Amino acid sequence: MIGFFRQGQTLVCDGVPLADLADAHGTPLYVYSAATIVSRYRAIDEAFAAYPHTIHYALKANSTLAIARLLRSLGSGADANSGGEIDVALRAGFIPPQIVFTGVGKTAAELAPAIELGVRTINAESAGELERIDALARERQTRARIAVRVNPDIDAKSHPHISTGLKTNKFGIPIDQVRELCARARRSEGLEIAGLHSHVGSQITDLAPLARAAAALVQLARELREDGTRIEHLDLGGGLGVSYNGSPVPDASAYAEAVLPVVRASGLSLILEPGRQIIAPAGVLLTRVVDVKEQSADKRFVVMDAGMTELIRPMLYDAYHRIEPVVQSSAPAVACDVVGPLCETSDTLGRGWRIRLRDGLELQSPAPAGGGARRGRPRRRHSPPPDDRRTAGARRLTPPMTDDGCRMTGLLIAFEGLDQSGKQTQAEILTAVLQERGRVCHLLSFPDYETAIGQEIHRGLHGGRDYDAAVMQLLYIANRYEKRPRIEQWLRDGAVIICDRYAASSVAYGEAQGLDPAWLEDAQRFLPKAHLTILLDISPETAAGRKAAGRDRYERDLVLLSRVRQSYRRQAQAAGWLQLNGDRDKHAVAADILTAFDSRLAPR
Ligand SMILES: Cc1ncc(COP(=O)(O)O)c(C=O)c1O
Repeated sequence: MIGFFRQGQTLVCDGVPLADLADAHGTPLYVYSAATIVSRYRAIDEAFAAYPHTIHYALKANSTLAIARLLRSLGSGADANSGGEIDVALRAGFIPPQIVFTGVGKTAAELAPAIELGVRTINAESAGELERIDALARERQTRARIAVRVNPDIDAKSHPHISTGLKTNKFGIPIDQVRELCARARRSEGLEIAGLHSHVGSQITDLAPLARAAAALVQLARELREDGTRIEHLDLGGGLGVSYNGSPVPDASAYAEAVLPVVRASGLSLILEPGRQIIAPAGVLLTRVVDVKEQSADKRFVVMDAGMTELIRPMLYDAYHRIEPVVQSSAPAVACDVVGPLCETSDTLGRGWRIRLRDGLELQSPAPAGGGARRGRPRRRHSPPPDDRRTAGARRLTPPMTDDGCRMTGLLIAFEGLDQSGKQTQAEILTAVLQERGRVCHLLSFPDYETAIGQEIHRGLHGGRDYDAAVMQLLYIANRYEKRPRIEQWLRDGAVIICDRYAASSVAYGEAQGLDPAWLEDAQRFLPKAHLTILLDISPETAAGRKAAGRDRYERDLVLLSRVRQSYRRQAQAAGWLQLNGDRDKHAVAADILTAFDSRLAPR
């Protein structure tokens, strides 16, 4: 069984008792079921399997990096609602063509990088935004791929605060203005129209408005094609609701059955942007009772250590979240309102509850809380945000942990390749991503010119000394041994050490100059071994092309560099390194590195 269920009296997540997580990590605490996220993503993907589609998980529902990474690993793209969310998507390993950028009020500071990155589409919200995108793209001598967000004037029959498809709402371009705007956009040098988008609301439990919105897009696409506009896809947004109180709601297959017949004849591929549907049932908020206040004969408050800052939905829309004890007891149930600690009367998690309070101090978990829990969370008294933990299968999580729920053990990762192959860039990206996941990382670059031996290497490279190849390689090796005590300590501490060049560089450059590779390997046998070596493979010509001036004695010699490349390839083959073509877009390379890291090294 996956997700949240009771084992005896105790609520568990994927088999892990929630009380243990609260003990280990404190409260308030968000806990997510990875298995539930996987199964809910797959349910949507399978429901639409018979039709060309891509799922772009709506990061606004929950942009926790580990969750974004999990969804990326399943094949999802990302729907980002701000520059910050694009940043999260990139850090989670999505490449720009896997990101759509949606949202009212995109600033130039957000649009410009999105255009430069080449995201899949920017879902344009207004005539003004189309003009701004056009100008920014022309300045950059490029075309931005856009989808026009259409406001179809459809009532989603959801809560008014989360209905977005009526003409009285601020979202999208009124449907009757779209043809005219597209005609203008077709003539704009900075725009390439790729699709139509609509999102009529969230927590929609009646499929009819979703089917009507799809039909409106199909009809509009037909008219636009007649006008000469090329439309490649329809983006149906998100919106499908979930059950918070156990009442029946349509599932992903019912949704597919409602919209696919409407869309099929158009032949246009679909983008879906589910958020809540995937994440809401996958998370709970664990919170502890701090106080019980008998205010009057008929008013009792149970004060928790979490409130609207951790779960904003009850306060925003009077939303219902089930509240239940983590460990059930037979104590008498008492009537109460469940409130948070903030100086706001609206800081309420639930009204009119009957709760069993064993000792007056117990854990409660409002569920489901996965989506929207973190949305719009203001800081409470400058307190740090609550910690995130998610369970992985039935594994018990004990610190120290990454935010993936991975136990921290030391890792050494080496980037190898010719100069200009992107080693430094990729080492920095990986460091940033892993730090974001909560790992302690140390980035090292060899040779380290700061040390005495490093300065000798510098002289040898730039003509101050006339060392032969063997002496130079011994210096490089000694330079690494200088760092050995520190590397070993970091590994014991569970840190990740990321090296721009490591032992294999000496083997490659030494072998290329006629030295015995076995000797060079042997001389380094007491250095800590790399757990993963990544070869960024580029040709010597590419290397030379990327750095025209200021090359050292190795960088100038293309014949030598092609022998270095051969040695690298031989070593990579023999030792099963990750070999990547370093000519590609840096984000694509970074995504492959992260995938390899996750599959080969995590959990460690
Ligand atoms: C444009 C857009 N796409 C997708 C979503 C995700 O919606 P849901 O979480 O209801 O699936 C939203 C939610 O506000 C949205 O505004």
